[in-house]
Amino acid sequence: MAKSILLATFFSLLIATTFPAIVEPGPSFACDGQMGSFPFCDRSLPINARVSDLIRRLTLPEKTRLLVNNAEGLARLGVPHYEWWSEALHGVSNVGPGTRFGGNVPGATSFPQVILTAASFNSSLWEEIGQAVSTEARAMYNEGLAGLTFWSPNVNIFRDPRWGRGQETPGEDPTVVGRYAGRYVRGLQNAFDAKDPNRLKVAACCKHYTAYDLDNWKGVDRFHFDAKVSKQDLEDTYQPPFETCVVEGRAASVMCSYNQVNGIPTCADPNLLTKTIRGDWGLNGYIVSDCDSVGVFYDSQHYTATPEDAAAIAIKSGLDLDCGPFLAEHTGEAMRKGKVSERDIDQALTNTFTVQMRLGMFDGNPAAQPFGQLGHKDVCTPPHQQLALEAARQGIVLLKNHRAALPLLPARVRTVAVIGPNADATFTMIGNYAGVPCGYTSPVQGIRRYAKAIYQPGCRGVACPTTDLFRPAIEAAQNSDATIMVMGLDQSIEAELRDREDLLLPGHQQELIQSVSMASRGPVVLVLMSGGPIDVSFAKDNNRVPGIIWAGYPGQAGGQAIADIVFGQYNPGGKLPMTWYPQEYVTKLPMTSMNMRPDPSKGYPGRTYRFYTGNTVYPFGHGSSYTKFTESIAQAPSMVSVPLDGKHGCFRNDTVSCQAVRVSHTRCSGLFMSLHIDVNNIGPMDGSHVVFVYSTPPQGHGAPSKQLVGFRRIHLPSNSQQQARFDIDVCRDLSIVDQFGLKKLPIGSHLFQVGELTHSVSLQLMKV
Ligand SMILES: *[C@@H]1O[C@H](CO)[C@@H](O)[C@H](O)[C@H]1NC(C)=O
Ligand SMILES: *[C@@H]1O[C@H](CO)[C@@H](O)[C@H](O)[C@H]1NC(C)=O
Repeated sequence: MAKSILLATFFSLLIATTFPAIVEPGPSFACDGQMGSFPFCDRSLPINARVSDLIRRLTLPEKTRLLVNNAEGLARLGVPHYEWWSEALHGVSNVGPGTRFGGNVPGATSFPQVILTAASFNSSLWEEIGQAVSTEARAMYNEGLAGLTFWSPNVNIFRDPRWGRGQETPGEDPTVVGRYAGRYVRGLQNAFDAKDPNRLKVAACCKHYTAYDLDNWKGVDRFHFDAKVSKQDLEDTYQPPFETCVVEGRAASVMCSYNQVNGIPTCADPNLLTKTIRGDWGLNGYIVSDCDSVGVFYDSQHYTATPEDAAAIAIKSGLDLDCGPFLAEHTGEAMRKGKVSERDIDQALTNTFTVQMRLGMFDGNPAAQPFGQLGHKDVCTPPHQQLALEAARQGIVLLKNHRAALPLLPARVRTVAVIGPNADATFTMIGNYAGVPCGYTSPVQGIRRYAKAIYQPGCRGVACPTTDLFRPAIEAAQNSDATIMVMGLDQSIEAELRDREDLLLPGHQQELIQSVSMASRGPVVLVLMSGGPIDVSFAKDNNRVPGIIWAGYPGQAGGQAIADIVFGQYNPGGKLPMTWYPQEYVTKLPMTSMNMRPDPSKGYPGRTYRFYTGNTVYPFGHGSSYTKFTESIAQAPSMVSVPLDGKHGCFRNDTVSCQAVRVSHTRCSGLFMSLHIDVNNIGPMDGSHVVFVYSTPPQGHGAPSKQLVGFRRIHLPSNSQQQARFDIDVCRDLSIVDQFGLKKLPIGSHLFQVGELTHSVSLQLMKV
């Protein structure tokens, strides 16, 4: 989702002129009052019976007008118009037309942009944020200000550092992205409620399916891009986050993307939609197109000869809802021409109505339903705003702390120069797909709680096109006890429809940092706001800049979180969820190459920590603390035996004859091995540490050089110890994917890595 504001505006105009929406005063609900006597309103009936009753009552023209995001009302049945498109990536957003702020709800809690929240590596935090967001979303629905179908989260991996939407994702690792997706969706939907797991608080959506992570790079845009993806990369990198989002998160929706994968638009691929999402993963929900995807594959990609063919192929492939007018315009004609059957249309409507029923949208006035008491008093509550602050603190990463220059001590630092185009940032802090926050604390406001601040922007905006504001910035640094420079990017540099071409700080920013650090009387702390990585080697290698902090886009309370960390009120524990590559990286491979693995014939260096072996500015998982942690392996097996299924052999006589065995030919399901890791905080401060467990499979098979199989954030007071136990799922975590896309378990030595420690586990086969 979705097109730029400009395109989105154009698009809503288009819809408005095609199908004038019924304008209703305030909220109105299906099955309310005397309209509640239809069987589809009867809550004692099973949902599938109610859905069939409703569909049975519809005419064909009515049906086709329900295949689009601004679904037309059915006045004769008391069903109001419904706008399906709402967004809640990191707080309730007004990017989609289904949500607006105003009246009793001028804003909602704006959590950090996802890439920073991911950096906390705290999965319970991810779920808590989802719960807070869905509470505010439900409250806004009850106030008539929002829908209940939110097209979040974005679970594409951050494949290339140039991607303008990398900020929306939980980073580059499929396991982390999947785990984030599962927990956030669970928080949003509340579908794990033991009393009624079928009931949804709001409906989430895993997007953009699949291999979508290029927006607009050197003339190649997402509307025309054909992602050439190998079976191996598809199965071990691009698909897993979606699978986890649907299977473990039980997401109620998946959105197919604009791009093609190997020559087929994702929204027109029955293999990707019906077979994989519904068949293999068992989606209980609806599949929606990205906004105007169907129009895009007809108009821009010329994938079908006629618009009716495009409508028919989308529906027959498994698409249930079109964000855009295309299906409402062309499905009727497609049916008349025999390209699609009414049964196919009914199937799509069954999937969308079922989700609406699970949301309670056909249960009459929501006031009497679960979550019915939520209202404007539940939006921007102090606990939610505190959680937004907490998320920013937990995510922010201390990249460098030369000779413990940080934290700054308020007793010694009375005057601080606060410099940089992001030093007084507000809007920049909330990133894209944001809403209207409850309020802001900018960095300079946060810092003023600890010291007297002299604020100088130094640049005109992050583009920093001139040096004419340098002088007052340099003078401020000369006259202060310490200097905090808040630099980096914003949506003018990285955004939807805007990929970067390089990884450097824009304009004269680097020069400003160098000039100020030469002149500064006290230590210089560089704070970077960005979604994507920045090559700051010049500062990493320069001890006139002893402290570097990455703050992502830290949300409404970001300035306070930054100040709390700089002044030691909070001990940072965030870790990078993506590799920070040097600038040369972008000259070594085009953004259009989807290959994760290195390609020596083209000189491509590979992508992400799983495959890239070149130099980094900062690696995946990097992040320091004000205290010191040590780790040791307390307990681990040296051997794991996997039983074969008895039907397939890997033994010739009594000797193992294969190097790897297909997972489906074993009985590894439910087989776990445990690692116990002791963590000690031997430093002076309480703090949080993230334990990362990697495994390196036996080489060959095109396996990753290492793969994260577990992570956990733990909090430890100074001078204390705790044990973390990891249950490694043998089928899932020790398997690799071969070049045909098949999951296999390599036989032999799997090397586990925890920090500096390694431990080898031998995987053997057992005859049954
Ligand atoms: C397996 O054992 C049989 C009989 O013991 C023998 O004839 C055969 O050569 C063996 N095959 C291999 C591959 O070792
Ligand atoms: C994870 O986040 C939750 C929610 O903010 C917090 O209570 C908990 O302490 C965090 N865990 C760690 C280890 O920091």
